[in-house]
Amino acid sequence: MNDTSNVITLGGIRKVFQADEVETHALSDVHLDVRLGEYVSISGPSGCGKSTLLSILGLLDTADAGSYVLSGHDVAGMNAAERARIRNAEIGFIFQAFNLIGDLSVQENVELPLTYRSGIGAAERRERVQEALERVGMAHRMRHYPAQLSGGQQQRVAVARALVGKPAILLADEPTGNLDSRNGEAVMALLDELHKGGATICMVTHDSRYAELAQRKIRMFDGRVVDEETFDRLRREDEQRIDALIGQRVEVDA
Ligand SMILES: Nc1ncnc2c1ncn2[C@@H]1O[C@H](COP(=O)(O)OP(=O)(O)O)[C@@H](O)[C@H]1O
Ligand SMILES: [Mg+2]
Repeated sequence: MNDTSNVITLGGIRKVFQADEVETHALSDVHLDVRLGEYVSISGPSGCGKSTLLSILGLLDTADAGSYVLSGHDVAGMNAAERARIRNAEIGFIFQAFNLIGDLSVQENVELPLTYRSGIGAAERRERVQEALERVGMAHRMRHYPAQLSGGQQQRVAVARALVGKPAILLADEPTGNLDSRNGEAVMALLDELHKGGATICMVTHDSRYAELAQRKIRMFDGRVVDEETFDRLRREDEQRIDALIGQRVEVDA
């Protein structure tokens, strides 16, 4: 049960959103293991629950049911303060919209996760920031502000911020979503390089070309993890339904 080579052991996860009168089953009985050093992609159509799952994995949100062990910590029963501490120590998050703080320099943005930790002095913080920025090729932009950087450069800084605390796992939610294809490919190459350097990565994308680049592919459909065959079948059925709807509309319009 207690497999120490797993960074993530997730079982029976459910999440229901209640908005007005509508209940959305965003996640239904999701199981997922991620082993140390693995690079996993999670892909599936828009609305299938990818971001919800990643928010739960990243301790930004909690599940309604299920078990979650992260780096040996049973996080399912933790209170908000404990979760925040574990999140800061174990998780590096990369967002679609970069989420850098505009008033802070590149150096200050990357240093931020370390300032919430005790026992790391100013000299060590500076050294770790330098090291993280060198890994992403952005050390020469230390004193710049986010607005002075291209989207691709901002995402590399955001990757440095995710790395600086030496987290157990990097979680990336559509990291290429706000980038053109050249910069998107550069960010994917960076993730690949980090994986080869030993990082454990879980990346969410709706783009199956990027999903293919990971070491292990996980497919989601309608709040569930499904195998490749089921995924292809459900997606075909979905396309036929949409084609039929468009066909009806055309008849009405004509
Ligand atoms: N805060 C929320 N309140 C209500 N419904 C939500 C909320 N967040 C997500 N959902 C719904 O849950 C489902 C899964 O959303 P999400 O995880 O964002 O999908 P994905 O990232 O795969 O596009 C969608 O139907 C979405 O509308
Ligand atoms: Mg999403």
